[in-house]
Amino acid sequence: MKDSNSATFTLVTIVLFLSLSWRATSDSSSQVDKFLQCLANSSALMLESIYTPSNSSFESALQAYIRNRRFLTPEIPKPVAIVAPTHVSHVQATVICAKENGVQIRVRSGGHDYEGLSYRSNVTFVILDMFNLRSIDVDVDNEVAFVQAGATIGELYYKIANESKGHAYPGGVCPSLGTGGHFSGGGYGNMMRKYGLSVDNILDAQVVGADGNILDRASMGEDLFWAIRGGGGASFAVIVSWKIKLVQVPEKVTVFTVPFTLEQGATDVAFKWQQVAPKLPEDLYIRQIASVINGSCPLEKKILVSFMGLFLGEADKLVPLVNQSFPELNLTKEDCKEMSWLESTVYWAGFPVGTPVQVLLNRTQGAPNFFKIKSDYVKTVIPKEGLETIWQMLIGMGNSSAANISMQWNPYGGKMSEIPESSTAFPHRSGNLFLIQYVVYWSEEGLNVSNHNIDRLRDMYDRMGPFVSKDPREAFLNYRDIDIGSSPSDQTNFTHAQVYGSKYFKDNFQRLTMVKAEMDPSNFFKNEQSIPPNFNFK
Ligand SMILES: Cc1cc2nc3c(=O)[nH]c(=O)nc-3n(C[C@H](O)[C@H](O)[C@H](O)COP(=O)(O)OP(=O)(O)OC[C@H]3O[C@@H](n4cnc5c(N)ncnc54)[C@H](O)[C@@H]3O)c2cc1C
Ligand SMILES: *[C@@H]1O[C@H](CO)[C@@H](O)[C@H](O)[C@H]1NC(C)=O
Ligand SMILES: *[C@@H]1O[C@H](CO)[C@@H](O)[C@H](O)[C@H]1NC(C)=O
Ligand SMILES: *[C@@H]1O[C@H](CO)[C@@H](O)[C@H](O)[C@H]1NC(C)=O
Ligand SMILES: *[C@@H]1O[C@H](CO)[C@@H](O)[C@H](O)[C@H]1NC(C)=O
Ligand SMILES: *[C@@H]1O[C@H](CO)[C@@H](O)[C@H](O)[C@H]1NC(C)=O
Ligand SMILES: *[C@@H]1O[C@H](CO)[C@@H](O)[C@H](O)[C@H]1NC(C)=O
Ligand SMILES: *[C@@H]1O[C@H](CO)[C@@H](O)[C@H](O)[C@H]1NC(C)=O
Ligand SMILES: *[C@@H]1O[C@H](CO)[C@@H](O)[C@H](O)[C@H]1NC(C)=O
Ligand SMILES: *[C@@H]1O[C@H](CO)[C@@H](O)[C@H](O)[C@H]1NC(C)=O
Ligand SMILES: *[C@@H]1O[C@H](CO)[C@@H](O)[C@H](O)[C@H]1NC(C)=O
Ligand SMILES: *[C@@H]1O[C@H](CO)[C@@H](O)[C@H](O)[C@H]1NC(C)=O
Ligand SMILES: *[C@@H]1O[C@H](CO)[C@@H](O)[C@H](O)[C@H]1NC(C)=O
Repeated sequence: MKDSNSATFTLVTIVLFLSLSWRATSDSSSQVDKFLQCLANSSALMLESIYTPSNSSFESALQAYIRNRRFLTPEIPKPVAIVAPTHVSHVQATVICAKENGVQIRVRSGGHDYEGLSYRSNVTFVILDMFNLRSIDVDVDNEVAFVQAGATIGELYYKIANESKGHAYPGGVCPSLGTGGHFSGGGYGNMMRKYGLSVDNILDAQVVGADGNILDRASMGEDLFWAIRGGGGASFAVIVSWKIKLVQVPEKVTVFTVPFTLEQGATDVAFKWQQVAPKLPEDLYIRQIASVINGSCPLEKKILVSFMGLFLGEADKLVPLVNQSFPELNLTKEDCKEMSWLESTVYWAGFPVGTPVQVLLNRTQGAPNFFKIKSDYVKTVIPKEGLETIWQMLIGMGNSSAANISMQWNPYGGKMSEIPESSTAFPHRSGNLFLIQYVVYWSEEGLNVSNHNIDRLRDMYDRMGPFVSKDPREAFLNYRDIDIGSSPSDQTNFTHAQVYGSKYFKDNFQRLTMVKAEMDPSNFFKNEQSIPPNFNFK
């Protein structure tokens, strides 16, 4: 953190100049001035890493990693600064200076938080934006890699495959996810039935703790290392990098997508899917997606249920396997496409077959949609009548041509059932048939449109109650849902934190609060659904 005096002087001058222009508009300006001066004193190298509202690139920097258009609207509060470190010492300085001056920080890696908690807050805050810290080093001989928090999983997958066609990493299917948020919240994808989650394959981590110290697994201790694997980084520390264990994949894998309408027997296939998908060999992952499509007549709505698969092997082995265990799918060789594992990540990300794999490296996104998402876990097979009810709910909700509504059912079982609930902070293990993701997205502006669509999704969630897990009704942290703990059905004698704590973390919540009390007793790392220190269990 040693830099030339003249650079420091320049920064202090600029910071003082900038802060004068804020004074008129912000009550917290002196707090912010002090924060910026503290940064200036710590390291003049940070000059070009700090965006304040006076920088012409402030808005574009803010928006570059906003993935939900609901939080791009003018009424969403903005940070007083965005700090984008290029060195771990800048992370330390940001934590120390923010803490000293009572400024909240929100850490952002890929910006995919469904509720935007990595870049919005109702108090004076700074975004600690990790996009510059994105190196990836792969060590094939030892089957490990070091990946910084700001790297995307698309970059990670690309880099691993670039070094070795026989290696991979289990994680999500959207290439732009940041490893900082995605891994610390669990990180699941289409290899989880074979290899578990991202958190199940992490060997070590470098973080900056609440006192500004750099810690690794040995110095942070097993409690904190346990907590950041599924408990969310945001409550505990700034994740700077991960050391991960690579997994092995064959040179050729097989993908497919088979759609069914109700007339083609979607209900029977979906019914059978619930019974077999969680029990199939671990090399096979079949996701079910139910969506509302336009019928042939105007305003007519239909259900389409698609089955999307990844098989870690060749089609000649897959087709007879499915014919035997899941004949209702009617999978033929023609439905199957063989490709490298890396190409399969492009396919699963929704790109047409043949799209160059370099698309995984593209950080420039088109304009995002508005969306709202909720999650549920299912532990008992939903009967056929239940499925019919669910299709009718979807059609009822999909009657607005302005929004697309769908449900993704992601099978568990396999390796997921073998890992004990307390092994990492991520608790949803054996006993689950599948995870539901409810999605509504739209592109029309207006708060009324948003409220209408969100209300419809909440209504659907309420009506799904009979089919899903109870006591607690579990939810997946990476599918952040600000309603959890706040909705009327959660209004019991429990406090807010205990409700979202038990839904996201089940029995791991108590240990998480103990780790929090030890590592961050003053609750510096905080958001609307963070882990409270010193929690009083009722
Ligand atoms: C299009 C899309 C597809 C998705 N697909 C999947 C999927 O296949 N599987 C899956 O498991 N999830 C999936 N998700 C959910 C995703 O895993 C979570 O949104 C995850 O939190 C994103 O991480 P991020 O770094 O991109 O997001 P961010 O918004 O940057 O961060 C998310 C949370 O983590 C915190 N955080 C971020 N970086 C750090 C850090 N370095 N240190 C400490 N805390 C940090 C943030 O403060 C915030 O609370 C998907 C999300 C989207 C939008
Ligand atoms: C910055 O450093 C100067 C000179 O050492 C000191 O006078 C000032 O108090 C420091 N400011 C902050 C906010 O740390
Ligand atoms: C923000 O503006 C200041 C003052 O002009 C400049 O020194 C700094 O480099 C700018 N920051 C970025 C990230 O461009
Ligand atoms: C911020 O405050 C508004 C108004 O009180 C509230 O509606 C909103 O949910 C809050 N935002 C967050 C992220 O909590
Ligand atoms: C590895 O990546 C480099 C740079 O993107 C590229 O030129 C090269 O073709 C890749 N090699 C393999 C084996 O994928
Ligand atoms: C259905 O049709 C409407 C207009 O008729 C269109 O706006 C909408 O995008 C279509 N939905 C789908 C899923 O194709
Ligand atoms: C199975 O697939 C074949 C070939 O696509 C098709 O002709 C047949 O109708 C399908 N059968 C069922 C029950 O869907
Ligand atoms: C499944 O196996 C049966 C019996 O061998 C065969 O008749 C049928 O055509 C196979 N179906 C598919 C889709 O391969
Ligand atoms: C990256 O994706 C965006 C949005 O789809 C596209 O406009 C852009 O051309 C892509 N960039 C590259 C280098 O492919
Ligand atoms: C959708 O259908 C429901 C019930 O039939 C109705 O109450 C609602 O107004 C409809 N919404 C739209 C946007 O048409
Ligand atoms: C809904 O999905 C369809 C089909 O993918 C697409 O054509 C349409 O633009 C989407 N509608 C909205 C509102 O995003
Ligand atoms: C939005 O909703 C409010 C309250 O329901 C209503 O008074 C207002 O007219 C609506 N605005 C628009 C543009 O539809
Ligand atoms: C809250 O606790 C009291 C006393 O234990 C009990 O009588 C009451 O029914 C509880 N309320 C709810 C909503 O659970």
